[in-house]
Amino acid sequence: MKTVKASGIGNPIDRVEGHLKVTGRAKYASEFSVKNLVYAQGVNSTIAKGRITSIDTSEAEKQKGVLKVITYKNAEKQGTFDKEMPSFGLTTIAPVFQSREVFYYGQYIACVVAETLEQAQYASRLIKVTYEEEIPDIHLEKNKDKAYKPDDQADYSRGDMKAGMQEADVTVEQTYTTPNEHQHPMELHAAIVSWKNGKVKMYANQQILEQATTAIADTFMIPKENVQIITPYIGGGFGSKLRVQRHVIMATMASKMIGRPVQITVTRQQMFTNTTYRQFDEQRMRLGAKNDGSLTALAHHTTSHTAKNLQYYEACGTVSKMLYKTPNNEVTHRLVPLNMQCPASMRAPGEATGSFALESAMDELAWKLKMDPIELRIKNDTQIDLGADKPFSSRLLIECLRIGVDKFGWEKRKMEPGTNKDGNWLIGYGVSAASRRAPYMKTSAKVILKLKEGTVNANVQMDATDIGTGTYTIVAQTVSEYLGIPVENVKVEIGDSEFPVTPGSGGSWGAASYCNGARKACENAIAELKKKQNMAEDEEVAIVDLLERNNLSTFEAEGTAEPSEEYKKHSVFSFGANFTEVWVDKDTGMYRIKRMVNVGSAGKILNPKTAYGQIIGGLTMGAGMVIAEQTKVEPNYGNFITRTLADYHVPVNLDMANIEVVFLPEEDKIANEMGVKGIGELGITSVAASIANAIFNATGKRMRDLPITPEKLIAAEIESDVM
Ligand code: MOS
Repeated sequence: MKTVKASGIGNPIDRVEGHLKVTGRAKYASEFSVKNLVYAQGVNSTIAKGRITSIDTSEAEKQKGVLKVITYKNAEKQGTFDKEMPSFGLTTIAPVFQSREVFYYGQYIACVVAETLEQAQYASRLIKVTYEEEIPDIHLEKNKDKAYKPDDQADYSRGDMKAGMQEADVTVEQTYTTPNEHQHPMELHAAIVSWKNGKVKMYANQQILEQATTAIADTFMIPKENVQIITPYIGGGFGSKLRVQRHVIMATMASKMIGRPVQITVTRQQMFTNTTYRQFDEQRMRLGAKNDGSLTALAHHTTSHTAKNLQYYEACGTVSKMLYKTPNNEVTHRLVPLNMQCPASMRAPGEATGSFALESAMDELAWKLKMDPIELRIKNDTQIDLGADKPFSSRLLIECLRIGVDKFGWEKRKMEPGTNKDGNWLIGYGVSAASRRAPYMKTSAKVILKLKEGTVNANVQMDATDIGTGTYTIVAQTVSEYLGIPVENVKVEIGDSEFPVTPGSGGSWGAASYCNGARKACENAIAELKKKQNMAEDEEVAIVDLLERNNLSTFEAEGTAEPSEEYKKHSVFSFGANFTEVWVDKDTGMYRIKRMVNVGSAGKILNPKTAYGQIIGGLTMGAGMVIAEQTKVEPNYGNFITRTLADYHVPVNLDMANIEVVFLPEEDKIANEMGVKGIGELGITSVAASIANAIFNATGKRMRDLPITPEKLIAAEIESDVM
């Protein structure tokens, strides 16, 4: 894409922080230089269930440079959960070393603090632990009798599912599974923490600062005002940095105990055991339809696992409540407690996996009906979110599908699997529909204007974060737009919990929320300056003139944007369609993703270049779900056996070819005043189904368990023959 020198929103300008990043000057959590710094190393349990019977730290403590070894014996008392199995929320406390109990393999049981990282790591290996070990519960299947309904999720139903299935001419009843997956952002989780006079200041890569300060304060039972988090740059999160993880608490406790700043950097292997992951999901789908394709029934039942002491469920069924016009519908979720680390949000939690099941099942239904899968989706389109009983603020799903048909060349698709060939290659086309909630949340910002020699510069401050998504750039563009100054004159200051409160980066709400907050601060600045001059609100005047007339060289204003009544009356989602072409080698089961086309409808696109990056990243992560990603659990000991990036595979450039991304021109003014909707998670949603559906179209093999490896593909039965 060509670089356009431009100001306001809608232009594909380069990232404003791009130079800092590529020249290595953008500082990440573990790169701040802090005086008197010492290093902490977490020590992991080697059992998955039981309790510590003895822990001998004497040898470790004798080592050169070692300042402290913290275990349950000398740890201070921290906050306790208010009930036995609380939901794992964004402000949930993360106490460490409060008992001898071990709930999962790799749980932190000690923390060594030393003058150097090497000293801490060496000493950590000298700690001797004995356990009273029990046989851990690590198999979902064997523990299904313990399944329970998550506290914060009611079973959902509308209409009469049984009657709907009876009424159907054609039905699909299938189960789909998706494995444990890990986010693995490039930047390791890290924190540098200083505890001084009851106040905590830390550099820590947290996605949502307001919620993280609450979790830390509640863990230490101190006022929230006493916790400051600074994180100007974050090298990816994908949900793993939403919640406060225990290394942050260990480092904070260590700093409090020894009175010096403490750095902790989670190792890449500890990124598996100690920083959350996406849980295994088993999704049972039941669909019924009339011969004309209209859905009569749709049920989506998900069974996953959670930890023994916390509950987190992935809301896979969300998509089945709202995507199609079906009168009879049931959605439930069940959790099985296992001796595993608590899973949590990973990019598009619920939709990424839920759409794999729903959109695969829709393809199965289309095949049984001998109907084009696009026509089936169009037939069941709805402008009302039947799950929420509200109209959509905008829904251009049909447009996404139709435009995709043209861009992709869908008319070349053959309905009968195995009939499009090139030598040994079987060629298949697949499609899927995507939807992802596009929330907008209360957001505050402060703008500081400076006038010097006829030029206005603006600093904007908010506790927002940039997890690699482009926050700096789109906020700079917004301020440039609403103040009418060049983007180069805007300085974005984010990543500090002492700045005005935002909802942070998560759940695809960042762009809409941040930009509207910044907009409101700019509008307030202009309104206040006009008021001082008794000017009418609608009078056109440049910001430079306003400051000059007021004889001000500097001026500050704050603003808070929040959802309107109209927003609350609507269901606000982004929509999209994914098209994939795969080539499958018929003898080896090796396959290549040859082309992908993604058409998205996500409101006003603030910056096509950063938006494009978001979608490409999402498509790649969606492809990863199909071709490689899975975290394997050792069947007896409950530890993850994929423990490095050599074992846990993700797509590389060679795996991803010819991606075309199209954004529909749209402004959703019900979503928010700027018409912006999130796209951070839309891009991963339903990608897996479009690839699996293409594989079916190529081979006649219906692959319902991710990832789809060549060996699974070779072993699978051809199902298209049964028709
Ligand atoms: Mo997202 S999984 O809310 O970072």
